[in-house]
Order: sequence, then structure tokens, then C-alpha cells
Amino acid sequence: MKAYKTVTIHSPANIAFIKYWGQRDPELVLPFNDSFSMNMSACTTELVIEFFTDSSIQQMEIKEFQKDQYRPSTEKELQKVQTFYPVAKKFLNAESNFGFSIRSSNSFPLKAGIASSASFFSALAYAFMIGFEKQLPEDQLSVLARLTGSGSAARSIPDGFVWWNARTSSETSYAYSLGKPEDWDIVDIVLVLNTQEKKVSSQAGHRDAPSSPYFQSRQEQLITVTAAMKKAFESRDFTQFGTLLEQEAIHFHSILMTQTPPLFYWSGKTLDVFRDVVDLRAAGVECYATTDAGENVHIIAKESMVDQIVSFFNKKAEIETIIINKPAPGTRQIS
Ligand code: DP6
Repeated sequence: MKAYKTVTIHSPANIAFIKYWGQRDPELVLPFNDSFSMNMSACTTELVIEFFTDSSIQQMEIKEFQKDQYRPSTEKELQKVQTFYPVAKKFLNAESNFGFSIRSSNSFPLKAGIASSASFFSALAYAFMIGFEKQLPEDQLSVLARLTGSGSAARSIPDGFVWWNARTSSETSYAYSLGKPEDWDIVDIVLVLNTQEKKVSSQAGHRDAPSSPYFQSRQEQLITVTAAMKKAFESRDFTQFGTLLEQEAIHFHSILMTQTPPLFYWSGKTLDVFRDVVDLRAAGVECYATTDAGENVHIIAKESMVDQIVSFFNKKAEIETIIINKPAPGTRQIS
């Protein structure tokens, strides 16, 4: 059967400076706290979707990092897309149906704490909006991306530096741009230490987050931290910004390690990089470290420091790949 339409969607992963961890409402994917991130220029998903009139056609192929060929998606991967279909249909008030064949390729390792689901699911939300022949304003497209289940996908929709309001109602919990990509010359240098898929999904992690004895105190502290972070961003105070984001990464991982059951995403190699970052700062190379739910470290620095940082870490055998990201636009239809 021939597709009646084919579109290509391009979407970035994002790195959170203030992390989303814990859901007030798991069904609606409403977070407990605001979060703040930057879209990543070199960690992206390209999703090509063919639309068919026969709605029984539902298939997907995936091309992983550094692989030449597409592989069929697993049942679980396809199921997440299929589960989102009726959610999107309802949200968009759509009456028609469509079949789809998706080819998704990633410029970075999947599921290793580089928000691969954020870039994929934001692209999927955009693609299904087109499939259902609807147009949404950016804030509502961000809500739709959130409803994929990958909450951080909401932050990949707008451009550049993105804030996601927690809020208690579905339609008001959306992400919006606080600054365009060109507004600040900072970079995210990803040190890939491990490309293995993480063992525990973020969903399980969110569910158990409140079991940490420190969860409540983190929520209380975040009120001042989020305000200070916004101020540091607005005044482009990189030292304050970096100090806050590194502290936040450590606090966030303290929650992970103290929830029940505990989550140990960091490895010894992760800790070594955090120590290296402290040493680099002492040597006058200003940079700060953060991680997502994974072992790989994101080094945040001013663009002028990239060469020094990369040449330092290039000498370390335990680093598999280094990916340099500038702030990037959000989800786009490119053809
Ligand atoms: C640790 O529920 O968005 O990355 O489905 O794996 O994308 P995935 O996770 P999601 O939670 C990820 C949270 C985080 C921190 C953050 O990005 O805010």
C-alpha cells in the first residue's frame, strides 16, 4: 500500500539543569516540581513517518547510534507508540484515523541517560498532530508531548532554554522557552562512559521518588533553587548558574540513591569525572557537571572553554565518545 503522506520531524534531546523527578499525577504525567533544560544540538532524533489510510498498519524501525541499518522495533517500543495513539486522538479531538510506518534514527546512544525518549516522543507528538490533521499552539503541543509518558519530552518542543511549569492541571503544565539558542554561548559536552541501556526505567524511578526521606526537603529547597536559577540565567551569571546546576545534580542523585528500592545510576567513572571537574575549575577552566538518569556526564561550560575541556578528557581511556552540544531549536517539521 502506498503512503498518502510522508513527513520528517527533527527533535532535540535536552539536558535538565533542574531535574524533573517524581510525579504528582502519574496518569497525567504531572511533575511535583518545575524543571529547566537546554535543547542539545548534536543529540537529536530524526523521525520519518509515512501515513496510510489503512489504520491497521502500525510499524516502526529504529536506527541506533553508530549503526548503519534500521532494525524492527521491539514489541515494547512499538507498544508505547500504540498506547499514545488513542491518547493523542482524544487530546486532539480527532475523528479520523491513520496507519503509520515510522523510521526513527538517533545521533546518540539510546536510553543511556541522554534523554533519548525526550527527543523521540516530542517528535512523535508532532508527527501524530500532523497525522490527525490538527494544529496546536506550542504550549499545547508541549502538553501533548508530556502525555506520551516521557515528561521531559514536553521540554524538547520549545526552542533553546526551556522551563516546564509543574502546575496541578494538565493544560497548564507545559514547557515554554526562556531564551533562544543564540541567547547564551554555553555548551553541553557529553562524556559517554557507557552506551548500555539503563536497567530501571524512569517511570519506576518517578514512582518511588517520594520514598526517599530527603524527597520532601528537596521539594522545599527547590522553591529557592528554581528562583535563583532563573535569576542566574536571566543575568547570564555563569558561575552562579553552574554552581546551582552541579549542586542540583548531586541532590537529585542523592534522592535516587535513597529511594526504595535505591537507584545507582552513577558509576565510579561518573564520580571520577565529577572530581576532574573540580580539579579543572581549580586550574581555571570553568565548567560544571551534571547527569541525567544514567552514568554519562554532561559538562556545562562557556563555548570558549570547549577545546581545553575536550583535550583534557580525550586523554582518558574510559570515555567512549565525546558529543559537543550547543543550545538548539525545539521540535521541527523539516520535510
Ligand atoms: C532524570 O519520565 O522524562 O531525565 O521517559 O526516560 O525520558 P524518560 O524519562 P522522564 O524523566 C526523566 C527525568 C530526568 C530528569 C529531567 O530530564 O528532568
